[in-house]
Amino acid sequence: MYLIFDDVQDVARYTARQLYRVMARRPRAVLGLATGGTMEPVYAELLALLAQQPLELSGLSTFNLDEYVGLSPCHSQSYAYYMDQHLFRHLPLAAGQARVPNGIAADLAAESSGYSGAIAAAGGLDLQLLGVGSNGHIGFNEPGTPFDAGTHVVELSEQTRHDNARFFDAGEVVPCRAITMGLRDILQARELLFVATGRSKAPIMEAIHGSAPSEQIPATAIKTHARSCIVLDAAAAERLP
Ligand code: F6R
Repeated sequence: MYLIFDDVQDVARYTARQLYRVMARRPRAVLGLATGGTMEPVYAELLALLAQQPLELSGLSTFNLDEYVGLSPCHSQSYAYYMDQHLFRHLPLAAGQARVPNGIAADLAAESSGYSGAIAAAGGLDLQLLGVGSNGHIGFNEPGTPFDAGTHVVELSEQTRHDNARFFDAGEVVPCRAITMGLRDILQARELLFVATGRSKAPIMEAIHGSAPSEQIPATAIKTHARSCIVLDAAAAERLP
């Protein structure tokens, strides 16, 4: 299902309301979260909603999609830091309620399998929030990733490192590797909420729309899910028929 809104703010308001709905519906809700520029206005809207109508959050669990390998949670470009800045520090969450893969784990293979296991132990994801890279990645599942992969370490593509360089200071090097939930983890969520905004996402949205599910465009995996919703602003949707 596609929902197309006029602008980014309307997309953010709708997406935040969906997250709030899941959090309100179940005291032990489990959310899969994403980072990136697309999600910044979403978390701002979610915080505004929670300020207006607070929820009891002591049973909430969250799992982020991904993290750069080698960046500690204190690094300003780590996704743990991003989540802390944009959401977690503003909520009354206890240690362990909000998880981001540990990009500095000594044993990344154990961190990966433990992460998929922790999602399952929490009862599975009620809703997974997704953004999309210009090459069609979701999480950091780059083109060619099998749909049945669990959480794993990936080599980031040149395209992704180039796209994400905008967040790093001049002279800082974008990490080459990341740890990401796999497409299997994502597809096991009970609901998927896929969000893309801005003209730069129009070509990949056209490609996703026109393609059958294919490992070459990882985002097409969401077409195999029974409850997925694609939320776009007019700019991201401009090449859709
Ligand atoms: C981030 C993530 C990525 C981003 C994607 C789009 O946790 O999983 O797949 O959603 O790279 O990033 P932005 O929103 O910065 O265009």
